[in-house]
Amino acid sequence: MTQIKSRQRVADHGEVFTGEREVRAMCDLVSDECLRIDSRFLEPACGDGNFLAEILQRKLAVVKEKYRRSPYDWERNSLLALGSLYGVDILADNCAHCRSRLYKIWERAYRSVCRRECSDDTRRAVRFVLERNIVCGNARTLRCVDEAQQDTKVPIVFSEWTFPQNNAFLHRKDYTFAELLDEEAPGAAARNSDGEGTFVQEYVCHYRRLGEAEPAGQET
Ligand SMILES: C[S@@+](CC[C@H](N)C(=O)[O-])C[C@H]1O[C@@H](n2cnc3c(N)ncnc32)[C@H](O)[C@@H]1O
Repeated sequence: MTQIKSRQRVADHGEVFTGEREVRAMCDLVSDECLRIDSRFLEPACGDGNFLAEILQRKLAVVKEKYRRSPYDWERNSLLALGSLYGVDILADNCAHCRSRLYKIWERAYRSVCRRECSDDTRRAVRFVLERNIVCGNARTLRCVDEAQQDTKVPIVFSEWTFPQNNAFLHRKDYTFAELLDEEAPGAAARNSDGEGTFVQEYVCHYRRLGEAEPAGQET
């Protein structure tokens, strides 16, 4: 894997990718968290997702080990594994590459476990989660950016994905990145009981219906 795409991109955006050996060594420092299916990770300048890809593979190995006999449980737990990984990058091509890379890792694992029971609805749900979790934005200003990498007025929003009833109904709760970070933010009083950021919206649907009605992207 090359660590640099062009000198211009290094000069403009500091784009130098981390080598595989370093990625693995750094993930080993938090190896227990990488094995917890719903452990949350944010790569704030994710590039094409070197860290997220390694963590996803580690989590999916656990999902396979625990749930390979049940496509239903494998699907739900793989959604939790993927849904707890977040990335931000200022370059749209990096975000697209990151999403497709994570999708391919998930798809390979899916086919190897669920085989003939694989469903295009679940595939759509996974793509929807990736569209939301890998955000084209500026990690300094916490805003989404346009195709010229300029800030828009739209704040970066992250979705929390859970199965609170342990059934097929997936809950999505949206929080602004700004207030997840800032203890003193005006909305801090509105945080939930876990001390998390300001709540924006909540949605509930069967996990296989995710993305049916609504475009995933953050409006700019
Ligand atoms: C040093 S690379 C690291 C990529 C990846 N995390 C890795 O370790 O391989 C830095 C990345 O940050 C992105 N970037 C630069 N400025 C940014 C900003 N203000 N907000 C979000 N991403 C930014 C670049 O596009 C580039 O992909």
